[in-house]
Amino acid sequence: MIRQCGAGDLGTLFSLINEAAHVYRGAIPADRWSEPYMPGEELHHEIDNGVMFWGFEEQGELLGVMGIQHVQDVTLIRHAYVRPHRQQKGIGSELLGFLMKQTDRPVLIGTWAAACWAIRFYEKHGFCMVSEEEKDRLLKKYWSIPERQVETSVVLADQKWFALRAKEEGS
Ligand SMILES: CC(C)(COP(=O)(O)OP(=O)(O)OC[C@H]1O[C@@H](n2cnc3c(N)ncnc32)[C@H](O)[C@@H]1OP(=O)(O)O)[C@@H](O)C(=O)NCCC(=O)NCCS
Repeated sequence: MIRQCGAGDLGTLFSLINEAAHVYRGAIPADRWSEPYMPGEELHHEIDNGVMFWGFEEQGELLGVMGIQHVQDVTLIRHAYVRPHRQQKGIGSELLGFLMKQTDRPVLIGTWAAACWAIRFYEKHGFCMVSEEEKDRLLKKYWSIPERQVETSVVLADQKWFALRAKEEGS
């Protein structure tokens, strides 16, 4: 079952995200790693800034979460995490498919350049990486992240975003 996460899920969100984010340790630049990866205050801040979390639940247990945030004229998919022992079993795909149906806007996703598994996951769902120049522009326009994170991230966009961009460039 996929359901929206509420205030009562905050503790579980915190532990699930930080458990799944352990895969970043040693993969992303060392200066971007912290323990916990996402402190509670940051999680609260993200929710206050409009990130709505949806969770994949089985027998009362949240096994995966994914956030959606509408910013200006686009939708961002944020903070996708599946419990390590349940990864690569289709939960992330279920959540992404569900969230893609919640928006008519072009969709963008930012992730670490080093997270090749996550890039592969999104590419499998039809997202494509934008150019380096475009990435810098988009991260500054739609995200609130430090400059160092911009340098070490990539942005993937869906086909709707690429079609609109091509139209803009042609006009
Ligand atoms: C990325 C993530 C959300 C995907 O969810 P998932 O339930 O594991 O993914 P699914 O089972 O739906 O899809 C599997 C596909 O994702 C990719 N993938 C996911 N985890 C992978 C891994 N560890 N290694 C390689 N590919 C991986 C592959 O493309 C895989 O398909 P394939 O096996 O046919 O190549 C999940 O693996 C996760 O939480 N990873 C750790 C945290 C993370 O990187 N989050 C992304 C933040 S933007």
